[in-house]
Amino acid sequence: MKELSIQNLSCQAESNLILKGVNLNIHAGDCIALLGPNGHGKSTLLNTLMGSPHYHVTEGQAFLDGEDILTLTPDLRSKKGMFLAFQNPPDVPGVVTMDFFRSAINSHSEKPISLYNFYKETTKAYEQVGLNSNMASRILNEGYSGGEKKRNEILQMLLLKPSIAFLDEIDSGLDVDALNLIAKVINDLRAQGTTFIIISHYDKLYDLIKPNRSAIMVDGKIVLEGDFSLTKKVSENGYSFLEREYHISIEKKEQVSIDTCAIKETISK
Ligand SMILES: Nc1ncnc2c1ncn2[C@@H]1O[C@H](COP(=O)(O)OP(=O)(O)O)[C@@H](O)[C@H]1O
Ligand SMILES: [Mg+2]
Repeated sequence: MKELSIQNLSCQAESNLILKGVNLNIHAGDCIALLGPNGHGKSTLLNTLMGSPHYHVTEGQAFLDGEDILTLTPDLRSKKGMFLAFQNPPDVPGVVTMDFFRSAINSHSEKPISLYNFYKETTKAYEQVGLNSNMASRILNEGYSGGEKKRNEILQMLLLKPSIAFLDEIDSGLDVDALNLIAKVINDLRAQGTTFIIISHYDKLYDLIKPNRSAIMVDGKIVLEGDFSLTKKVSENGYSFLEREYHISIEKKEQVSIDTCAIKETISK
């Protein structure tokens, strides 16, 4: 890919407006740290770009090398070279991991992969992410530990070789050794030209991969862009500087539980 251009993108889920006009231009070879407080729309942006059916685009566009991707089904977006490593990879009952990998690889190529090459590629990828390749015969994500699920997402990325990869909190739940392995995989792919958008709340991963750009999302919009130093500023000071220096207020996004509603109703009576 040469460019992904996100223009005034807005979307809603269950009648809640979540993205409220996102503008971001991503160029080939960029590695963007996508920052922002919890609940302000980071995962929603990545899921919407991949075509998750949970989100309804209400306004705006996203062009991959000039082609409007929002009209494409998720499988076609994937075939165009887009990839998302989920924040919470779901269990897929009944689907064996190795069958999933093989179908995924085959749907991205003209000819089915030979068993020999499939074995060779998956064995190497399992090694690169530090997982035992006998996990390939297990049901996809079922009973995987948090760290195993995250490594398995990276493994899929290695097998599919995307041109642009979105990694959503890929480092949460990883031990230090796993984090180093994953950072090496990301750096190797970057060296081969893969473009990245990476969401993380910890600067350890960012320190290891040194993104060239950072963008902060607040209330469904990109409110500030900067270079790598912005990730440092956020990890050292949190987000309160946005209010002090840029007059950007951050509303706490908290989910109101049914209990809270019941208590409020009782009090108001
Ligand atoms: N499928 C959905 N249905 C309803 N609300 C959603 C859905 N997905 C996300 N949201 C809400 O949208 C807001 C942004 O969520 P998210 O994008 O996950 O935030 P972040 O990744 O920045 O922490 C949150 O308030 C979240 O509860
Ligand atoms: Mg998220």
